[in-house]
Amino acid sequence: MTGQKKLRLGAIIQGVGAHVGLWRHPDLPSDASVSLAFYRRQAQIAEAGKFDLAFIADGLYITAQSIPHFLNRFEPITILSALASVTSRIGLVGTLSTTYSEPFNASRQFASLDHISGGRAGWNVVTSPLEGSALNYGKKHPDHSERYRMAEEYIEVVKGLWDSWEDDAFVRNKETGAFFDQTKLHALRHSGEFFRVQGPLNIARSKQGQPVIFQAGSSEAGRALAAESADAVLTEHEDLEKAKAFYRDVKNRARAHGRSAEAIKIMHGIGVIVGRTQEEAERKREEIAMLVTIEAALDHLGRFFEHHDFSLYPLDGPFPDLGDLGSNGFRGTTDRIKRIAAERKLSLREVAFLAVTPPGEFVGTPERIADLIQLWFEEEAADGFLIQSVTPTSLEDFVRHVVPLLQQRGLYRTEYEADTLRGNLGLPIPENRNTLRAYEEIQ
Ligand SMILES: Cc1cc2nc3c(=O)[nH]c(=O)nc-3n(C[C@H](O)[C@H](O)[C@H](O)COP(=O)(O)O)c2cc1C
Repeated sequence: MTGQKKLRLGAIIQGVGAHVGLWRHPDLPSDASVSLAFYRRQAQIAEAGKFDLAFIADGLYITAQSIPHFLNRFEPITILSALASVTSRIGLVGTLSTTYSEPFNASRQFASLDHISGGRAGWNVVTSPLEGSALNYGKKHPDHSERYRMAEEYIEVVKGLWDSWEDDAFVRNKETGAFFDQTKLHALRHSGEFFRVQGPLNIARSKQGQPVIFQAGSSEAGRALAAESADAVLTEHEDLEKAKAFYRDVKNRARAHGRSAEAIKIMHGIGVIVGRTQEEAERKREEIAMLVTIEAALDHLGRFFEHHDFSLYPLDGPFPDLGDLGSNGFRGTTDRIKRIAAERKLSLREVAFLAVTPPGEFVGTPERIADLIQLWFEEEAADGFLIQSVTPTSLEDFVRHVVPLLQQRGLYRTEYEADTLRGNLGLPIPENRNTLRAYEEIQ
């Protein structure tokens, strides 16, 4: 029984897609990654499906080997601001790196998006796994643990800045001339290991208090950060048992911080392919895999391993021993690839194709996909799912054929409960931590 608990759904809107070959599909506009019309349509389809959120991922470093969507993409806050004006209920979540940005800027940007959208903004905190990102910022790439220490302090600063103004600080009394109440304005005065930020922030809190914080790293440090300060975790696991173990671990860590298990939502990213029959869905999946050449597949694999050149190895030999390569970047993914290659004794060619083949689990008839979602949800492997388009019509097919089944089963909403992202996710409005503090001089 799921009791009162409701399934959460999000859509990863990703232009020509996370799949390296999808741009070649005849039914997908090949300029989708920088087409406002495409993003608008996807967001509106997700909103018609009563999705909690639309999510825009991001990265800060490309090479000629990067996947097509990475080569030519929108900056998240900019596109989300545009989407805010053509949607009214769906949450708008975007990635921003704590390693390559300033907390003062980030807090302003997300607070602005939160006002523009009427309380629907969310920030996906990432620490930027790609070492090359440093080249675009004139910095040295911090190692994994330092990046996570920075992230922890960064979030603390951003949340502190978001509380600069108490909710009733702006009195705007035209008669007396009092624009605001000085006792309700607070400077942060943060001085830490990585950041020195005085504040206050030059924008008020929104209707939902603060934007919702997502976190997408699944490593030990990523989980620790999420358990302490995120409202939701974006993750991916190849099977139910691993997803359940992750779920239990993050919820237990959150409890250890004195938080309730419900205070942190775990959303699992899935590639969805819907068919009228299982065979039709499998055929679509093969069609997508066939769009990728072996050279492109090797390039794609190299991405996770610091752009390692896999063309140096015999294609039909065993997957090479790479030592620690990649462990400072996409550690969760590289560990998984190495483990699967060893467990299944796969050749390099097989690993490369596996890396570009849409995962098989959520492929099938609407009933099969709804059954799996129900199973994962009821077995406590996920609080919700992020639908990733691996065919040109994944999202539309899901909304049209799978969502009604989830609604009929009483697992999923038929109407939005609220008009803020927090409200729809069932998260409380965070109390302004300054409300009870004494007035601080800010001069
Ligand atoms: C659904 C989902 C979305 C993600 N979005 C991003 C993103 O937009 N940008 C990014 O750099 N990494 C993204 N990631 C990758 C994680 O952040 C990645 O695991 C992390 O950067 C490496 O951290 P880790 O070593 O803690 O796993 C995403 C991961 C998942 C599962």
